[in-house]
Formats: sequence, C-alpha cells, structure tokens
Amino acid sequence: MTIAVINGPNLNLLGVREPEIYGNKGYKDLCREIKKYGKAKGIKILTFQSNHEGALVDYIQSLLKKADGIVINPGAYTHTSVAILDALKAVNIKTVEVHISEVSEREDFRQVSYIRDYCAKTITGHGTKGYTEAIDFLCGEENV
Ligand code: DQA
Repeated sequence: MTIAVINGPNLNLLGVREPEIYGNKGYKDLCREIKKYGKAKGIKILTFQSNHEGALVDYIQSLLKKADGIVINPGAYTHTSVAILDALKAVNIKTVEVHISEVSEREDFRQVSYIRDYCAKTITGHGTKGYTEAIDFLCGEENV
C-alpha cells in the first residue's frame, strides 16, 4: 500500500510558523515521523509539500495508478481551490483532509473547505497527530 501525504502553502514552516496554533514540530521532523509510522505498518509513505497551487495539482495528478490513498492538508488553498478539488476528483484516490488547527473555531474565511465533501474523512484540531490518524483511517483502522 502506498499513501501520499501532501501539504500546501506555509506548512514547510511548521515549527516556526505561529507555534501557538501549529505546534513546535518542524516539517522535516513531521515527515520523518510519518514515514517511520508507515514503515512500521508496512506502508510506503510519499511526502510532498508546495507553496504553489499548480505544483500541488501536478503532484496529485502524478499519483494516478501510483498511490492507494491520499492525506492532504491544503493549507490556505483549502478555502479557495477548485483546482485542487478537481485534481482529487480526477485521480479518484481515497482521500482524507487534515488540518492541524481546529479550523471550526477560527475565522469565518476558514469555515469553507472546497475539498471536504469529496473526502472520505476530515480530521481537524488534533495537531500533527491528525496525519497518522488519517493513515490509520486509510488502512481501515476506523478508531479516529
Ligand atoms: C491549516 C488551516 C488553514 O486555515 C491554514 O491556512 C493553514 C493550515 C491547518 O492545518 O490547520 O495553512 O490547514
């Protein structure tokens, strides 16, 4: 099984960026942990981050016939991007939406998610643990 974990804009600055909201763990450490978690489960984890909408669309397209599941935190593009929604629909790979923060308790403009209805599950406000919970869900372990 192969799962792609995709992060959108500004998530490369995890650990530095608003740590009171997003925590102290850096993006590289997060990727290392997720890959280790996958390895222990016998799953191949691919990681990708970009600050560019088109690069995220290109990467999602590249997963066709390559990944069995997608975990995506589109960052701010969550609230704006029809292109990311369309790319996910195009490849038709089971997808979980993850947000580190509890977006439902934040600004009005964060209340819209273009991808939410398409995703099999959404995990918000669990910090970076949300990524491994999403992996568990994609593996059929519905304890989240
Ligand atoms: C986020 C929430 C978004 O509103 C924000 O733009 C992000 C991160 C989260 O993980 O909580 O960049 O997706």
